[in-house]
Amino acid sequence: MPTAISATMRKKLVAAAMRVMKNAHAPYSKFRVGSAILLTNGKIFSGCNVENASYGLTNCAERTAIFSAVAQLGPKIEIRAVAVTNDQGVPCSPCGACRQVIYEFGSDATIFFQGASGPKQAHITELLPQGFRLK
Ligand code: THU
Repeated sequence: MPTAISATMRKKLVAAAMRVMKNAHAPYSKFRVGSAILLTNGKIFSGCNVENASYGLTNCAERTAIFSAVAQLGPKIEIRAVAVTNDQGVPCSPCGACRQVIYEFGSDATIFFQGASGPKQAHITELLPQGFRLK
């Protein structure tokens, strides 16, 4: 198990996820999502959902944050934690596609999200058992 993320860091990540929601492009679902990721090097990246008139092309907030980190720092990043927020205060855990992308860069990551009965945290392997690896 990884060392626990402090409450201070969790709040910082959630705050960064909340801030970036305003940049979401969500005219179709009207559901704005923000995500912030903490890397093992201490850096934080954030991202929002970016929808498209061809709905299936939508990029979730989590993947936007992760792809920005890779674009900035290269593929050797390691994700320590991910926070997900939405503008409706409803339960929202990362979708299946995002779970697999988180796993690619953070097989030991902790995820903070809104669960059915309030804020939740889970290890990526609880959300994605037996994630896919190409070795
Ligand atoms: N969405 C995210 O960005 N992250 C999630 O964890 C769940 C869903 C977005 C995709 C789409 O723009 C909108 O929420 C409605 O599905």
